[in-house]
Amino acid sequence: MKEKICVVTGANSGIGKITALELAKLGATVVMLCLDEGQGEEARSEIKTESGNESIDLMLADLSSQQSIRQFVLDYQKKYDKLHVLINNAGVNLTKRYETVDGIERVFAINTLAPFLLSNLLLNTLKKSIPARIINVASSVQTTSINFDKLQSKKYFRSWKAYSRSKTALILITYEFARRLSGSGITINCLHPGFTKTNITHNYKGIIKFFTKIIFGFAQSPEEGAVTSIYLASSPEVEGVSGKYFINKKEANSKDITYDTSVAKKLWDVCANLTKLNHINT
Ligand SMILES: NC(=O)c1ccc[n+]([C@@H]2O[C@H](COP(=O)([O-])OP(=O)(O)OC[C@H]3O[C@@H](n4cnc5c(N)ncnc54)[C@H](OP(=O)(O)O)[C@@H]3O)[C@@H](O)[C@H]2O)c1
Repeated sequence: MKEKICVVTGANSGIGKITALELAKLGATVVMLCLDEGQGEEARSEIKTESGNESIDLMLADLSSQQSIRQFVLDYQKKYDKLHVLINNAGVNLTKRYETVDGIERVFAINTLAPFLLSNLLLNTLKKSIPARIINVASSVQTTSINFDKLQSKKYFRSWKAYSRSKTALILITYEFARRLSGSGITINCLHPGFTKTNITHNYKGIIKFFTKIIFGFAQSPEEGAVTSIYLASSPEVEGVSGKYFINKKEANSKDITYDTSVAKKLWDVCANLTKLNHINT
């Protein structure tokens, strides 16, 4: 991975931190997109020491804010003219409905819209760096349908449903992106990292927190959870492979609904409208 530049979102903790570390060990320049400066700096310092790689950059952005994503892209493009691997790893699982500064339900905004917007805005930079790869960290937790009226859980919020809907939408967007990027030299794939002990449920409280802690006792380590992200980012085995879903470094099937191209096109238009990206022609 020497000479390659990789952006990893949510690189200060869990699966993202290990992904950034392992790519650093492989010699890549790693740009860590993090929300919090203190936590980001702490992780960057650990990654530099552990990997012996000095080319680890920290850039701040709040993926719940479209303005912040756009600013990140402008700042990134001032510093770097290439991007070989974009890993949309950051994600949230919330117990309550919150709206972002853009007035969008937060789980959908961070888990689906942020990877959509960031990938689209960075396309020109990726195109200058082909062969380039986009990797979306999704989940095996998927819905069997997409109800467009419920995308943002406006009437009634159920944590698990909002999370699984956002990840199903991310898989649909990944496949639609792959169709649009066909022949461009940019590949895009998604993955389920496996049930992994991380901070993903840190906002849980009370009895749910108690049971989650017990269940997470059986979960794999972040090192195991990062294996497929690292594989998709760096392995020559997946050069040219696009529009696939992986579990444990192997192609797998996602839920039937994710292969519905008319749903994917409609979802793409919804995401483009919500992020004001209509003018972008991929
Ligand atoms: N753990 C699992 O079992 C599991 C299973 C399936 C899929 N996943 C997916 O794996 C990915 C990584 O999650 P994880 O399990 O490693 O959890 P994690 O340790 O909580 O990592 C999530 C990362 O996302 C960042 N993030 C959250 N909101 C953000 C925002 N508004 N702007 C920028 N960054 C933000 C977090 O930053 P802060 O630390 O500053 O909040 C953190 O770095 C997620 O997409 C998750 O949905 C996890």
